[in-house]
Parts: sequence; structure tokens; C-alpha cells
Amino acid sequence: MKRLCLLGLIALSVAFPVLAESRLDDKPAFIEQLLRQMTLQEKIGQLRLISIGADMPRERLAEELAAGNVGGTFNSVTRQDNRPLQDAALRSRLKIPIFFAYDVIHGHRTIFPIGLGLASSWDMQAVATAGRVAAIEASADGLDMTFAPMVDIARDPRWGRTSEGFGEDPYLVSEIARTMVGAYQGKSLRNPDSLMASVKHFALYGAVEGGRDYNVVDMSPLRMHQDYLPPYHAAIEAGAGGVMVALNTINGVPASANRWLLRDLLRKDWGFSGVTISDHGAITELLRHGVAADGREAAKLAIDAGLDMSMADSLYGQHLAELVQAGDVPMQVVDQAVREVLGAKYDLGLFHDPYRRIGQVSEDPPEVNAESRLHRQAARDVARQSLVLLENRNSVLPLDKADRIALVGPLADSHIDMLGSWSAAGVAKQTVTLRQAMQAALGDHGRLVYARGANVTDDEKLVEYLNFLNWDNPEVVQDPRPADQMIAEAVAAARQADVVVAAVGESRGMSHESSSRTSLQLPASQQALLRALKQTGKPLVLVLMNGRPLNLAWAQANADAMLETWFSGTEGGHAIAEVLFGDYNPSGKLPISFPRSVGQIPVYYNHPRLGRPFVEGKPGNYTSQYFDEPNGPLYPFGYGLSYTQFSLSPPRLSTDVLSHGQSLEVSVTLKNTGKRDGATVVQLYIRDLAASVVRPVKELKGFRKVWLKAGEEQQVRFSVGEDELTFVDAQLRQVAEPGVFEVQAGLDSQHVQTQRFELR
Ligand code: BGC
Repeated sequence: MKRLCLLGLIALSVAFPVLAESRLDDKPAFIEQLLRQMTLQEKIGQLRLISIGADMPRERLAEELAAGNVGGTFNSVTRQDNRPLQDAALRSRLKIPIFFAYDVIHGHRTIFPIGLGLASSWDMQAVATAGRVAAIEASADGLDMTFAPMVDIARDPRWGRTSEGFGEDPYLVSEIARTMVGAYQGKSLRNPDSLMASVKHFALYGAVEGGRDYNVVDMSPLRMHQDYLPPYHAAIEAGAGGVMVALNTINGVPASANRWLLRDLLRKDWGFSGVTISDHGAITELLRHGVAADGREAAKLAIDAGLDMSMADSLYGQHLAELVQAGDVPMQVVDQAVREVLGAKYDLGLFHDPYRRIGQVSEDPPEVNAESRLHRQAARDVARQSLVLLENRNSVLPLDKADRIALVGPLADSHIDMLGSWSAAGVAKQTVTLRQAMQAALGDHGRLVYARGANVTDDEKLVEYLNFLNWDNPEVVQDPRPADQMIAEAVAAARQADVVVAAVGESRGMSHESSSRTSLQLPASQQALLRALKQTGKPLVLVLMNGRPLNLAWAQANADAMLETWFSGTEGGHAIAEVLFGDYNPSGKLPISFPRSVGQIPVYYNHPRLGRPFVEGKPGNYTSQYFDEPNGPLYPFGYGLSYTQFSLSPPRLSTDVLSHGQSLEVSVTLKNTGKRDGATVVQLYIRDLAASVVRPVKELKGFRKVWLKAGEEQQVRFSVGEDELTFVDAQLRQVAEPGVFEVQAGLDSQHVQTQRFELR
């Protein structure tokens, strides 16, 4: 401890000769004193966040750093790379350190399941493990900040970034947001193994029209406050140090130029005191949005709106000085933005020690990708919990290790796709594929035959698009054999087997930024493979790897079992094999509804009540429905099977009359009625029977993941008080109105048992 303080003082006096007597323990005084010494140019420098490799050549970057023209960088991810950049920053006149950021979204070197997978665990301990391990690994590589958590509510699976978030529900996503921020930031942001969280994308990015990336968002204030804003707010309440501003417009005003969003809502109403950061090139995009006539106006709009730092965007650098000199942007506005940036660096402990996370050369890992730096066990534990069993007819799963198994499908042995998108510093070769894991689980006695069976897609245009996306190397690698030949090989393998396991879905780039789809079907090549396999008459187990709800109507009707595995990360293969062989009993639940078709979108469980809700009945009964296919989701929110069975009692309430300020207890008895130990998630929903505005048909207000031995039972208790009953009224006030409420308890959002009480 003493050593640290001493090092801090030495660092301070080396870095800030002028400031040596200023008190480092008094943040506001320290920052004000620093601000007073800064030239306008140096202030503007702090507002620039530079993309390594993209924005400027390294030599130029070193010069800019030494001139004090850069506040932070992102995309350089080793101590060896970051150290010379910090050295250069400390050669600047005021020796203000820079911070290093990166998209650490679901792991850094060890990759955990993608957001949807983490959410499927409904286990905050698992989510926290993923966040903490990511922070430990990223900070050990000299990083200070992550552009995460990504908490955009998504109800339209055509949107490729659905994969990154945690699903459709404000309550579940808010819980995860809080957990993730706590896990990244640790006990104190100043700790060397803490990462600052920058929650994104503020706001409403998940509601882009038609699910098409970067499209407009038009939304009523009521819906915003009820459904889309709570997760960002939760992250901020949990202390997120940063906020990344979204690329989309909100009701006609781009988020990056939106004073209401950044000043009124974020700062005034929510009391956010951290740093706001633009998304990539977003200030320049104000020109393309058509709200700024030129770069000067774009810079003015953004800084006036409250956008502190510009990411990979040159307009602040080009125009802010002149804007201030001309009196068009008050110096106080620039000063405030600079304060936030310096404040973030202060909180991260960088003024105490600019090399806090970079460390000494002697401590550098000899090999950044060394096995010893990975957290495989943690990744495997979390990945297991992220798998959702969608079907299991005739208990075809778990598989018998003595069986002859045909493993087929383009994703069965694809390392890169195990990673999912935004895989930070994850290395494809370090992932365990399903093929490797099944072979390992079966050992020498196994009878596993593998055949690829199909390419992910045979659509050359699509392959070209995916290979040009964001990756350095083409990663959708086609098997050159004709489709018929590949299918024939797979069918031959199936014929000799007792059971067929088909790993199908999307390549990781299909569920990514700029990867919106009009279809949620499996690509045609894989559909053809599955149909041919079906014809063999062998039991068909689908292992789905994908980053969004897919249209599984055919699969539901034809597969014997289906396991949704998302993109499950470094240890995903082992986790899936454990479930397939019954070494782990699946416990995941869907954090997002699966539609029956694209035409049904949006499908979400907590939709507002209607005057003519759908009811089964005679044709033409004039209720809200599509007449050409069954209504409701194919798989509802909160759904997921187990190898055991559970029964849940009706909810019991401690009182049926609740006064303002009080709470009541809801208790249910959960029993494992099957023959295996296992876990499920007890879900508590509330329905407000009559209110001053139209309320959702139900809203998740509590959940508990419970492990029970075969035959065991447990009381599960929830507390319901005004927090659970409060909603946003037509004047956008948080209110709990008197009246009757229904408590619904279930193991998914559709099959619930109810009880009523009255709030007086
Ligand atoms: C994405 C952000 C990401 C940023 C930096 C943007 O294109 O929208 O989510 O954090 O790039 O990589």
C-alpha cells in the first residue's frame, strides 16, 4: 500500500511538475488547477479519441500525442503497443496521460458467450464472472476502458446487433447492465484490474426502423421511458464512468446532436457525471444526416449538445478552436467537456500512475496469447449456462456415448464462428469446436463420424459481403466441393449412425454491426442439408449457432431435439458437448422471443394491451392477428427446457391488500419432479389491470435461478412493493396508481399461474 502511494507521488511529480503541490486527493481542485494551465489547443486535444491504425499513421500519432493533441486511443491491445503511446503523451507540455479503450464486449482474450448467450443464463453470477474476467484480462493488456456493456433493447431480430445485447426485456437487461458495470469496474475504478464501462449505445439504437442498421428511430416518449431507457439508466446508477452516444436519430434529431438526450435526460434528470463519447465518426455523420451544413456546424452542434469526446472523427480538432475564438461556442462548454475527460482519467487512477495498467517492461507477458493467460474454466462454466434446450422429443437427448454419432454441419468444426462477433483479442485457434469437444468427451472408444455437409451459405454475394465486413482476413471459407457431394457425404455418415447431430446457423459475421437480414431462415445450403438428413429417418439433433432469433418453424416440426447455443466462446464446444452427453443439465432460458416468421416482427412478450386482443375463434372475429399463420411467438421469452421436469405451485401472497409504501411477499413452491438434478428460472410477472395509460400485458419484475436435486422442492420468495408497480404515466412521471394487480408466476412468460391483490 505504502509503496503504491510513494509510486503515485513520484509519478505525479514527474508527470506534473507544475502541479506537484496541488492535492491529488482532491479531484475537483486538481482538475481545475490543471484546466487553468491548458491552452485551448490542449483542451481540444483531450476531446479527441483516436482509432489506432485507422485514423493516422503511428509516427504522426506519436507527434500528436507529444503535442498534447490526443485524449485517448482505442484498438491497441498490448502493453508493448500502449507503453510507447503513453510515453509520447507524457512528453507533452502538461504530461497529461491518455487512456486506452477497446471493445471488450464478451471477453477479452478468453471469449465468453455473446450477449444473448450471457442473458440466456439468467444468472447474474455467471454474467459477473464474464465481466470480471474480461476486466482482469483487458487491464492486464494495458487497457483502461471498454465500450460496454451494450444494453440496447432489441425486438427486431433482423438487426444484426441483436447478438451483442441482452435481449428484449427492460428488467432483465437492466439487471445485467448493473451487474456488468459492477464487474468491469470492480470495487474501485482506480484498481489496476478495473476497466471503466462506457454503456452504449445511448440511446434506443436497438429500435432502428425495420431492423436495418443505422436507420432512424422514431418512438413515443412513453415507450422510451417504459421499455428502452431503463437499461442505460441502470448502468449509470451502477456508476458507469462513460456513455457512448448512438449513431441513430431519435425523433428527428441525431443522438450526437441531441441536447435533450445528453443534457436534459442524461445529466439533469439522471445526474450522470462521467464522460460522453461519440460513436465512430458520428460527428461527421451529422452532415450526412442533414442537420449540419458543414463540418464547423457539425462540431458546434455536437459540443453544444453535450458530446464530450469525438471518436475517430476530425471535426473537433479542425473546428473547435475557431468556434471558440469566434464566440460561437463558449469556452465554458469546452471546459466542461474537458473536465469530464480529465475526471475519467482521474477516476481511473491515471494521474496517480499513468502506467497503472501498462506496468513495467519486466512484467510484460512473454507471449500475449499464452494459454496461461486464459480463463478456460470460467468460460466453460458460463457457456454451459447460456445454452437453451428448445426441443427434446422422446428424450433423444442426452446422447448415449456408446451410440454411433454422425456430426455434420458447417459450424461443427469452425473455430472462428465459436467466437461470435466483437471478439476483442480472442484467438480463433484457441476455441474448442463442437467436433473437438465431442471427440474429447468420447475418448478412444467413441464412434463419431464427421462430415461438413454444407457451406454456411452458397450465396457468393453474401460470402463476399461477409468477408468484406470488419475483419482483417476473409473468414467465411468455402468448401469448393459441389453442394450435392457434400450432402451425399453427410447422408452417408447419417445412415451409418444411430443419431445425427447437425451444427447449423449463421457465420458470426451474419450477426454483427451492419449485418441486418430480411430473412431469418437458415441459408438455403443448410436447409437442403437438413432436409436430406431428415429423409434418412435417423433422430435429428440440431445444435444452433447464431446471433439472433431465427425462423425455426421447419426445424421445430422436423428436428427431434434443438439446442440453441448462440456463439458460445472459447470453451463453447466443451459446454455444448457436456449438454449433449448429459454431463450438464441445460438450464438456459430465452431472453428474447423467437418469431414464427419475419412478417410477425416485432414479437415481444410485454406488448401493450389492446382493445381487440387476439382470441382464438371463428374466422373474421376481428381480433388482432395475422390470419395466415398461428399467432404468438414460436418460442416465448423466458422459455427453455431441462432434462428433468419441474412443477410450480400457484403463487401465494402474504396479503391481498397493499398500502402505499408497503410490500407484500409472493411465494411459490418449485419442485424437481424428474429424475435428474437440474436448474430452472422462476419468473415473476406483474399485470396492472387498469391504469391511466395503456400498460403491457405483463412485465417481468423478478426472477430466480434455482438448482434442485431430483425430487427436491424449494420455496421461492419475491417481494413486491411500489418499485415493482411503478410506471411512467402520460406526463412521464413515475407513479404507482391504486388498483388491482395480477401476480403471474411461471417457468416462461406464457405459462403462468396468477393471483390478485389491490394497491390502496
Ligand atoms: C460501433 C461501436 C464500437 C465502435 C468502436 C462502432 O462502429 O458502433 O459499438 O464501440 O465502433 O469500435
